[in-house]
Amino acid sequence: MSVQTLTPASIASEQRSTVRCASCGATLDDRTARATCANCGGLLAVEHVAPKAKGVALRELFDARLGAASYRGSAADRSGVWRFRELVLPAARPEEIVSHPEGNTPLVAREAVASFAGVNALRLKHEGHNPSASFKDRGMTAALTQARRIGARAVACASTGNTSASLAAYAAQAGIPAFVLVPEGRVSTGKLAQTLAYGAHMIRLRGDFDDCLELAREASERLGIYLVNSLNPFRVEGQKTIVLELLQQLGWESPDWIALPAGNLGNTAAFGKALREAHALGLIDRVPRLLAVQAAGAAPFAAGFSDDFATRRRVRAETAATAIRIGDPASWDRAVEAIRFTAGHVVAVSDAEIFAAKRVIDACGVGCEPASAASVAGVRTLAERGIIGREERVVSVLTGHLLKDPDAALAARVAGGLGSDEPLTRDEALAHLERVLTSSSSR
Ligand code: F0G
Repeated sequence: MSVQTLTPASIASEQRSTVRCASCGATLDDRTARATCANCGGLLAVEHVAPKAKGVALRELFDARLGAASYRGSAADRSGVWRFRELVLPAARPEEIVSHPEGNTPLVAREAVASFAGVNALRLKHEGHNPSASFKDRGMTAALTQARRIGARAVACASTGNTSASLAAYAAQAGIPAFVLVPEGRVSTGKLAQTLAYGAHMIRLRGDFDDCLELAREASERLGIYLVNSLNPFRVEGQKTIVLELLQQLGWESPDWIALPAGNLGNTAAFGKALREAHALGLIDRVPRLLAVQAAGAAPFAAGFSDDFATRRRVRAETAATAIRIGDPASWDRAVEAIRFTAGHVVAVSDAEIFAAKRVIDACGVGCEPASAASVAGVRTLAERGIIGREERVVSVLTGHLLKDPDAALAARVAGGLGSDEPLTRDEALAHLERVLTSSSSR
């Protein structure tokens, strides 16, 4: 199959997807408005008819779109999500796609972070470079495209802040009213500001994220609002492209490990599905191991891993990494499958370890929000335990931008002795500069 014959129009007319319940096996067509199974409430999964091109030909198709993106590609080619549309939502017509565009995030290497983590070859996939500054935009472009396809009257989500900011941005672009439920307190200023500025209706609920999600599910059932939390199967399809894009950036050579922070487990599930499909389609010949990292105060999945997921766990979550302050993860079953399929690992790290990693990531000029730094803290823990070898190649996914949580960034640095707490006079400022210069040159 030559690359040229796979035009977007022919792909759209040839391919369809099926939505299947992972629990009871019920099937729905790809224009379903359900986010969960109507029969049993189970999680739905999207299955695509396999593209005709496989292996090298499919890589070449994706690579050709990347090469064409800046000057003669379609709008979809310019998106780091829709470039992989055969594996996202092949039947979406170009006019249905709600794209910023998103994705195309950098894969960077910084010596200081690798040496902190204790491995020689560590790369950082910085998803904070998405339009609303977190990885959520990749799932949201797919979910709002689906919302447009089904003619949704409104969209809703529960959120620790990033999903709500992303939903607000994409709903604004699609012209669909958006409702978000966030836990009172504990959502960072940057995320609240984005959500309101993009024009979503925000409800601050007395309760935590898990309470918000329960209410969002109930409200969407009762009021016919399209639910776009990561249990929505189309969100998962979009988020798979973090893995597809990083594999493409590595020339389709798998790393040994991919590490990511884990909260509601939507991303862990998406990464597992991406790797399963990439392997089945011959995009890669070896499956990297997934490392899902939780904050110790919100680590039911790490506890589950220690007894081979014998039982599903719930905890009352507490961590300063507010994005992953989640005690009852919705995508549990799918994430278990992802860890099993990739011979992966799950680990919990303390808030102190998360912030130690964040300071190193920030100080090398890359920066990330606290939860994101868990993906580096987890690699360090596994390297110390000898589970990740020094020679192994690791990609840590930074899920959100430093400016998502400016208070956390300031607290980490001012407490570390950089910057003056109080404003200074002109003379004091000069004396301060001189003192800092003298002490740093004498080091
Ligand atoms: N990192 C960041 C920055 C996040 O915002 C989240 C989740 C995660 C990691 C964890 O991903 O839930 O798929 O395991 N944030 C959600 C939100 C819950 O509402 O923004 P997950």
